[in-house]
Amino acid sequence: MTDPLTRWRDLAGAAVLLDGFHALKHALRFGAEVPVAVTTDRRAALALAEELAGDVRDVLDALLTEVPGAVYASLVPRPHPTGVAALAVRPSREANLRAVGGTPRTAPVVVLDNPRNLGNAGAVIRLAAGFGVAGVVTTGTLDPWHPTVVRGGAGLHFATAVERLGVDELPAGPLFALDPEGEDIRGTKLPDDAVLAFGSERTGLSPGLRARADHLLRLPMRPQVSSYNLATSVAMTLYHWSAGQGAPPAR
Ligand SMILES: C[S@@+](CC[C@H](N)C(=O)[O-])C[C@H]1O[C@@H](n2cnc3c(N)ncnc32)[C@H](O)[C@@H]1O
Repeated sequence: MTDPLTRWRDLAGAAVLLDGFHALKHALRFGAEVPVAVTTDRRAALALAEELAGDVRDVLDALLTEVPGAVYASLVPRPHPTGVAALAVRPSREANLRAVGGTPRTAPVVVLDNPRNLGNAGAVIRLAAGFGVAGVVTTGTLDPWHPTVVRGGAGLHFATAVERLGVDELPAGPLFALDPEGEDIRGTKLPDDAVLAFGSERTGLSPGLRARADHLLRLPMRPQVSSYNLATSVAMTLYHWSAGQGAPPAR
């Protein structure tokens, strides 16, 4: 069996970097294939698992190799306070974005049209995981699997589908584009198979996306405020979708 550091170096080019305990915990919970994981302090990492993630404690016990701090720092661009890092196989879940056999999706897809900020993209993937949406699609050049996005998304890429596509390749479904100039969202019930599109932080929706939109919706906002932050706009819209689904099942 190859030693963990050799395996790390062999895989690093193509794999997804899981930077920190929480990213690794979430990835394991949502079925990621994790061939290698390191920590600067196995005892501390397993204590954290006992406290916060008993469901994956034994998997972590089997997976984590302790390495010196300097070795850990050489493997990750920005060492995480938990001293944990891992590599995961990047899944292809594009099929989850599509309707299967003519049956419409049961949860929306979020589209970020040419996002620029890696932290925003991560926050949106975390929201998508929390609300159980079918996936997050980005258009443009930003890599939605960039380590900073995965860190911002706390490893929750594995709880949904995350893909980069062209505007002409977006999944089917009624396209609702969010824009401060649209109709008030409060008058619209968002269907479960909606495609919910949000514009770029600096320039808003691209002409191509705008041309494809079936509806333009605005979030309530006081006059003189130009716009909300991208991730907070996604949060409000997903909350509006979930509120329209009726009461959640009793726990
Ligand atoms: C920071 S804003 C973009 C601001 C940009 N300067 C513009 O011209 O639209 C990023 C995205 O968040 C969404 N957004 C922000 N505020 C919104 C609002 N009040 N109503 C609907 N969408 C909003 C839109 O999708 C927007 O493209």
